[in-house]
Amino acid sequence: MATTKDYSQYFVAPDLKAAKKRGKEEVQVLQFEQIPEDMRHVGKNKRYLIQTYGCQMNVHDSETIAGILEQMGYTPTEHEYDADIILLNTCAIRENAEDKVFGTLGRLKQLKLEKPDLILGVCGCMSQEESVVNRLLQSYQYVDLVFGTHNIHRLPYLLQNALYSKEMVVEVWSKEGDVIENMPKVRSDGLRAWVNIMYGCDKFCTYCIVPYTRGKERSRRPEDVLNEIRELARKGYQEVTLLGQNVNAYGKDFKDIDYRFGDLMDDVRKIGIPRVRFTTSHPRDFDDHLIEVLAKRGNLVEHIHLPVQSGSTEVLKLMARKYTREQYLELVRKIKQAIPDVVLTTDIIVGFPGETEEQFEETLSLVKEVEYDSAYTFIYSPREGTPAAKMKDDVPMEVKKERLQRLNEVVNEIARRKNEALRGQVVEVLVEGESKKNPDVLSGRTRTNKLVNFRGPKHLIGRFVHVRITEPQTWTLNGEWVEEPVAQVGV
Ligand code: 5AD
Ligand code: SF4
Repeated sequence: MATTKDYSQYFVAPDLKAAKKRGKEEVQVLQFEQIPEDMRHVGKNKRYLIQTYGCQMNVHDSETIAGILEQMGYTPTEHEYDADIILLNTCAIRENAEDKVFGTLGRLKQLKLEKPDLILGVCGCMSQEESVVNRLLQSYQYVDLVFGTHNIHRLPYLLQNALYSKEMVVEVWSKEGDVIENMPKVRSDGLRAWVNIMYGCDKFCTYCIVPYTRGKERSRRPEDVLNEIRELARKGYQEVTLLGQNVNAYGKDFKDIDYRFGDLMDDVRKIGIPRVRFTTSHPRDFDDHLIEVLAKRGNLVEHIHLPVQSGSTEVLKLMARKYTREQYLELVRKIKQAIPDVVLTTDIIVGFPGETEEQFEETLSLVKEVEYDSAYTFIYSPREGTPAAKMKDDVPMEVKKERLQRLNEVVNEIARRKNEALRGQVVEVLVEGESKKNPDVLSGRTRTNKLVNFRGPKHLIGRFVHVRITEPQTWTLNGEWVEEPVAQVGV
């Protein structure tokens, strides 16, 4: 039985209660230590595979994990049966995300039996949950390594233990978190890069597990962020996306300087990188200075992802979002006034505990009023340890599904209408590559993050081109490459 084994050597249990503490302890900015001498060649002739679930933060963490593994000599593979180490970088935001990971782990058991030397690891948000770690210890004993979101920089040491130990190595800290600089990274794309500007979240929306799995809000120092972006510009990157669970809280934790997200964006604007995006915004901290800076445009694109979650003030209150429907709409009005062609997108949850039909209809009416270009819509999923999990999850599943469908119909109808308005217009596209569906077609994105497909020579990949939209659809825009230089349209 797993429970009778002694894991104390490695096991630092995740604890959701401890994870909730937001102490006065100063955030430390630490430098990534060199890979220990005896681990530098451990991956020679060996291959790694990282399977990433969830948000961009995880995608970017996987780039860091890949960077560390490559410094140890590992090379990448896309095939499970070729891999000497497989890491699942997991997401905990909804139950179905977790189910997928347990499904994959179940499937990988066979491979582990065939290849006992394979190192199988679980990291990311799920590993920060007590219940998940207990389940792994009980029922997935063939997993070799479990590490949390605060422990990525410790990977060389943890892997060393996993390689030489027969027992599961578990290291997850429920701590508030530090900032680790200079971690190696393997960026999977040569055009577009992600840059963390802050970590963690202190908002504690009642449905959300993130503040527990990602620790407290802590910002990277401005000079570290700006230097990283300058370096990316030098390397020829065309686009950066600034990442944080709540980017608008950037700088709130600085004690020595008064420097917030608006100031950072104003400085990033002066760097010679053609496009700058950011995600995700919380409406509460979205201040006037930021709107003013975004309105200067240049490399700051006209797209804002502004999660609303619900259109009902009562539901927003239960969610602890700390704004009302009216305050949200007022923010949207200010943004649209400053940037009339702005594209807004959002996240919405349906079926939150106690949500009535009328309250749901308020969400529908808000969506119609704001006219989002697209929205990520979710059915509420209770997360253990969050305040909402203690509320009665009383909206029946059929009602949740029906609401989701009605909401999606409204969202799609508006998306289609918005795209239709682009028919005949010429837009600027950063060409990313061949379309996934058809290698004869190229695809790329507008400044507003809309996907555009068009026919053109392959040498356009990596460049900015102009495309005339001929066939707008709900999710994508089909168009024709405009070879002659034309005046740029800010779309
Ligand atoms: N159930 C459903 N959706 C959730 N989200 C966060 N937590 C939950 C949950 N418990 C959604 C929110 C958030 C997005 C990333 O995921 O809409 O903005
Ligand atoms: Fe979760 Fe709310 Fe923080 Fe977003 S702002 S990560 S929804 S707690």
